[in-house]
Amino acid sequence: MTDRYAVIGNPIGHTKSPLIHGLFAEATGQALEYTAIEGPLEPREGFAQTVKAFIAAGGKGMNVTAPFKLHAFELADERSERATLAGAVNAMKFENGRIIAENFDGVGLVRDIEANLQRPMAGKRVLILGAGGAVRGALLPFLAAGPAQLVIANRDVAKAEALVAQVGAGQSLRACGYRELEAMGSFDLVVNATSASLTGQLPPVPPGVFSPAGTAYELAYGKGLTPFLRLARNAGIQGVADGVGMLVEQAAEAFAWWRGVRPDTRAVIDRLTVPLD
Ligand code: ATR
Repeated sequence: MTDRYAVIGNPIGHTKSPLIHGLFAEATGQALEYTAIEGPLEPREGFAQTVKAFIAAGGKGMNVTAPFKLHAFELADERSERATLAGAVNAMKFENGRIIAENFDGVGLVRDIEANLQRPMAGKRVLILGAGGAVRGALLPFLAAGPAQLVIANRDVAKAEALVAQVGAGQSLRACGYRELEAMGSFDLVVNATSASLTGQLPPVPPGVFSPAGTAYELAYGKGLTPFLRLARNAGIQGVADGVGMLVEQAAEAFAWWRGVRPDTRAVIDRLTVPLD
């Protein structure tokens, strides 16, 4: 029987995961099937039932997207450290009757920035906007990259502070509100991990946070020049990027975890990239 994989979410029509994993399988010569499953919003236990039915039908692994990342966390028998800190799961592996859970969103983001965009974070000043699920998933991989300073700015400062407290605030990590950013100078990398761009809004970030030789990264993808990226451009930044590379890199992490083969990502990123302008 062909090994089966799937992405589960609701809605799921927009997902690029079957395309990405199909291209990976073709390029690495792996025989597998990867489909999209629309998970049930109701009843509450419907998610667990759908996953178990998939396992019974030969499922070896699943990616998880909204709104099931927390459900997958609860369902898992084992969770990685980064999944635990994120409190959310974006990939599962089914092995020996157990559900093993991971979160590759953060490592995918760091890999896109460091390997694809060639912007190593070690010794740099890094600013992350937002303190929701995306940032929880990214925090450990960002710290592991060794920035000189990592600042988490959020409208609701208490939420950013709680996140920082979870990993232990140090000299290099701090939480703040947007207004405090005005006195903090410029950053080598500014990542917009808020959900503001999904509704065409702009987080209240002062233009002074951008450094002309730096990079502005928008987690959303395929939305062109969002208000955040436009602000960065207007502040003179040449290095602006959206999250298409992160999407492909987190998929590559999952693929390597499941199959033991790391696919090349460049061609897939190029194929999925929608020009910003
Ligand atoms: P969660 O995982 O907490 O449910 P999320 O959707 O992952 O939520 O996170 C949304 C993030 O985008 C939050 O950091 C939110 O800021 P607040 O915590 O202050 O609400 C942020 N966000 C959403 N819209 C925003 C906007 N227009 N400007 C700035 N930040 C915004």
